Amino acid sequence: MTQVLVLNGPNLGRLGVREPEIYGHASMADLERAAAGWGSELSLDVAVRQTDDESELVGWLHGAVDARAHVVLNPAAFTHYSYALRDAAAQVTSSGLLLVEVHLSNPAARESFRHYSVVAGIATGTVAGFGFDSYRLALGAIARKLRG
Ligand code: DQA
Repeated sequence: MTQVLVLNGPNLGRLGVREPEIYGHASMADLERAAAGWGSELSLDVAVRQTDDESELVGWLHGAVDARAHVVLNPAAFTHYSYALRDAAAQVTSSGLLLVEVHLSNPAARESFRHYSVVAGIATGTVAGFGFDSYRLALGAIARKLRG
């Protein structure tokens, strides 16, 4: 089955308690459960991971390339400044795999430091502003694109 890694960056492990007016009341465990359901509907083997550590996230992207896994990536704050993450994400798309950047909120409608994504330019596409639905839409887009 086609493998998709759903990778989440810093502070997303605090979903549910972190600024719920922006990020909602559901937790990372809720996202894991929801993503497993969407995966089985779409015939994708989905694994959800979260880390606060930049080097761990870079390592997971390297692992995606080696395992030929597609990626849904919420880089969180790394979105806005991590060239290391951008370069690792670029290896995913340049090896012919899909990488969809996702955000729960719509960074373009928030503080100006969130308006720029260093990842967007190498991503297959971006989905932002729909809460957990951003992930569902990203997985659906991957499934459709793979069907051709
Ligand atoms: C976020 C948006 C980022 O600006 C922020 O740093 C996050 C979460 C989102 O999902 O809306 O941590 O990626």
